[in-house]
Amino acid sequence: MNEVRKVVIPVAGWGTRSLPATKNIPKEMLPIYNKPVIQYVVEEAQRARIRDVIFVTNRDKSVIEDHFDYNLQLEGVLERAGKLDKLEEIRKVAEMVNIMSVRQKRQLGLGHAVLCAEELVQDAPFAVMVGDDLMFGGVPAIGQLIEVAMAEKVSVVGVVEVPWEKVNRYGIIDGEETSPGVYRVRGMVEKPSRENAPSRLAIVGRYVLTPNIFTYLKQVKPGHGGEIQLTDAMQSLSQHHGMMAVRMMGMRFDAGDWAEFLTANIYFALQDEELRYDLLALLKNFVQFT
Ligand code: G1P
Repeated sequence: MNEVRKVVIPVAGWGTRSLPATKNIPKEMLPIYNKPVIQYVVEEAQRARIRDVIFVTNRDKSVIEDHFDYNLQLEGVLERAGKLDKLEEIRKVAEMVNIMSVRQKRQLGLGHAVLCAEELVQDAPFAVMVGDDLMFGGVPAIGQLIEVAMAEKVSVVGVVEVPWEKVNRYGIIDGEETSPGVYRVRGMVEKPSRENAPSRLAIVGRYVLTPNIFTYLKQVKPGHGGEIQLTDAMQSLSQHHGMMAVRMMGMRFDAGDWAEFLTANIYFALQDEELRYDLLALLKNFVQFT
C-alpha cells in the first residue's frame, strides 16, 4: 500500500448542536483554549506525516482555509510591534500543510462529502478525519490507523467502546478481535437501536480508506436520516475487500458536545504553565460555590 499523504476533512456541516455560537462562525473555528478546533485536527494529521489536506467546504467556510494561509497584514503589525514569538506562531500555522478545497454544494451526508473529494484524492489510499472528534494521546490517532492499513493493506476505521445507551449515535461495527485492540470487520451499521447493535464498538471520526470506497459511495442509496452514509459504503467495502478496525488509544473529545468542548478547553488551558495556577485558583473558588 502507498504512503497515506492526503486527508479529507469534511467541514461543510451546519454545527447546529453548537448554536447560537455557530450562527456565523464555522463550528471548526470555535476555540479550544487558544486554537480553533480545526487546528488540533490538522496538527494530528501533520504529526502522522500527512502533507495534503483536502477540506470539503461550503460557501461560508473560507475562513478555515484562511487560517492555514499567511496573513501578511497581521504579520506586518506583529513585526513592527516586536511581537516576534506571536509572529512565528502564526506563520507556522500557514506552513503546516498544503491546503486544497472542494465545495460540497448540497449537504447530503458524510459519505457524499467524501465522494466530493474523489477528484482531489486520485488513486491512492487516503485518510478521513471528522473535525468534531478531537483525539489526543502519544501516537496521533490517525497514525495508529495508517500503521495497520499499511501492514494489512486494507481500509481501517477507528473505534472506541461506548455505553450501550449511546450506540444509536454512532456507526457500530461487528468485529473479531485478531490482536489486542485490532479487529477484522464482519460488518457495520449506522446508528442502530440498542437492540440491533452488533457491539458497542463505535466508529469515531478517523478512517483510512482505499480509493475503491468511491465505487461503493456511488452505489449506496440514502440511508439513516436520508443521507448518503459513509458507513453504508464501508459495509459494502468490508464485504468485498475486507476491512479492519482499531480501538483508539488516548483521550477523545466531541467538540459538538458542550460538556466535552468545555472540558477540552480546561484540559488544554491547564497544560499552559503560565495559566495553570490562576485558572485552578479561579475554578476551585467557583466550584466551591456551585
Ligand atoms: C458520523 C458517522 C458515524 C460516526 C460519527 C463519529 O456521524 O456517520 O458513523 O460514528 O460520525 O463522530 P455524525 O456524528 O456525523 O452523525
